[in-house]
Amino acid sequence: MTNDKNFYGVLAEFEDPTALCKGAERVRDAGYKNWDCHSPFPVHGLDDCMGVKFTRLPWIVLAMGITGLAAGVWLQWWTNAVDYPYDISGKPVWSLPANVPVIFEVTVLFSAFTAFFAMWGINGLPRWYHPLFRKSSFAKATDDGFFLAIEAKDPNFALDRTSDFLNTIGAKTVEEVREADEPAGLPAAIKAKLWITAAALLVPMAMVYSSWDATTTQPRVHIIKDMDKQDRFRAQGQTTLFADGRMSRAQVVGTVAEDQWFEDSSFVSGKDGDNYLTKMPAAIVVDSDFILDGQKNFEIFCSPCHGAQGAGDGMIHQRAVTLAAQGLAVWVQPTNLTIKRIMDMEDGKLFETISNGLNTMPHYAAQIPLEERWAIIAYVRALQQQYGDTSLSAEELAVMTPAARGDLILKQQGCTACHTTDGTPLVGPSYKGLIGSEVPLISGETVIADLAYITESLREPLASARVGALAGVMLPFPQLTDAEIADIFAFLSTLK
Ligand code: HEC
Ligand code: HEC
Repeated sequence: MTNDKNFYGVLAEFEDPTALCKGAERVRDAGYKNWDCHSPFPVHGLDDCMGVKFTRLPWIVLAMGITGLAAGVWLQWWTNAVDYPYDISGKPVWSLPANVPVIFEVTVLFSAFTAFFAMWGINGLPRWYHPLFRKSSFAKATDDGFFLAIEAKDPNFALDRTSDFLNTIGAKTVEEVREADEPAGLPAAIKAKLWITAAALLVPMAMVYSSWDATTTQPRVHIIKDMDKQDRFRAQGQTTLFADGRMSRAQVVGTVAEDQWFEDSSFVSGKDGDNYLTKMPAAIVVDSDFILDGQKNFEIFCSPCHGAQGAGDGMIHQRAVTLAAQGLAVWVQPTNLTIKRIMDMEDGKLFETISNGLNTMPHYAAQIPLEERWAIIAYVRALQQQYGDTSLSAEELAVMTPAARGDLILKQQGCTACHTTDGTPLVGPSYKGLIGSEVPLISGETVIADLAYITESLREPLASARVGALAGVMLPFPQLTDAEIADIFAFLSTLK
């Protein structure tokens, strides 16, 4: 060891690879630690002569790879299953196979960065200039020179003794190597430029930060135009090009597109003229394969909301109810498809609901081919036969009290999905204490809840919507007869 900071060490040149190897063996045996060999080409066996140990880099990479793996697992588990669990069609919030790609990527990322930066660190990089390059004789290391350099920071190093030692082990020449006197750091000019660049790089980040929660009505800045910014007409947009100002063009009157042509138009619309089809279109043959096809599609498209048995209790409903309880959503229960109202519904009306949707129920015309929509209906009919409401005969109904009949009708019509009888509000107001009470309407009037009001609520709910309630959610029930409404009224009157 020496205290002279600028003194790098000694550089010895050897005659040929054999001499270098021999010399290296001696240096190794003499117990030197901070030294290295330089040759124009790889010398076989030199590593052994030098006693080079296997690098510890792979172990560092392995450790960081495992860290990355654990980080990938933890990140996805925590975000998906703990911090923000999100129900997607009832799938489990945490499942390993789905998360393997990211885990793999993070493992590779950690390993690769570690391999790269740890290699730099262990080798003392970055370094602008190595002191050995200051010796012009060292240039031969790229041609026919075989060198061995021992650094002054080696604990065994002593200038005279080490030089003599190198001479005795066959070195041709031994030179002293010093660091240059100028400071090792970056030149001031480069430093200044780096500082300016670093400061400039903060500007975009500051801009991002400042607009973090800012709002604007302007479209976002497109540096590279992508597909949402194109010179084209948008659906529902306006233009001066056409006289009617609409970008979407209506189908030319009197024409039919090739894929819209069907011999039997009721197959497409579910309607025969203005009336809904009461049974399947003529082209359809209902057999067991057809119903099984319907089951398959029902389970894919409908059961997440309507439940596997059509009872309106699918996973999405269950999740939505918990969100609604926290006040995070307004949710109308998917209709129980096995109640009497849906059993009585025409096939054509069911077809229309599937094709066009209803309130929060999406439309499926674009996703389910025509024939498969009919197959779903066949399967819904099968569910109704299995789980459906068995209607009472006219004689059985006749001996019941009006209130009991009214109670039955509410269940058969699915009113209970939105109204309760015990005072707890659901999507709609509770029936409890309704009859005889004063109801403030959105029209500004106040009415007493009597038979006329109940009748209007069922025939034209929008016209009699109550202040503070969700107007428009309740659909009209034109199928109810006056006698049935009277029964309902009788039942509601019992709920004081
Ligand atoms: C995203 C959830 C959801 C999915 C998926 C869904 N529905 Fe619905 N469906 C609803 C809701 C909610 C209602 C009640 C709408 C209302 O009354 O406001 C409903 C109502 C209905 C009704 C009653 C219509 C009426 O006139 O009262 C039928 C029939 C129906 N759905 C059939 C289906 C079929 C068949 C499928 C599969 C193709 C399906 N639904 C898929 C949510 C869904
Ligand atoms: C899809 C949910 C839904 C269904 C199904 C539904 N309702 Fe409603 N109902 C509402 C909502 C929401 C209101 C409040 C808005 C309004 O007054 O129109 C309401 C209002 C009413 C009112 C007026 C109550 C008041 O306090 O002003 C009556 C009566 C009523 N419903 C009866 C029925 C009956 C009977 C059925 C079954 C035949 C039924 N509803 C089915 C959602 C529903």
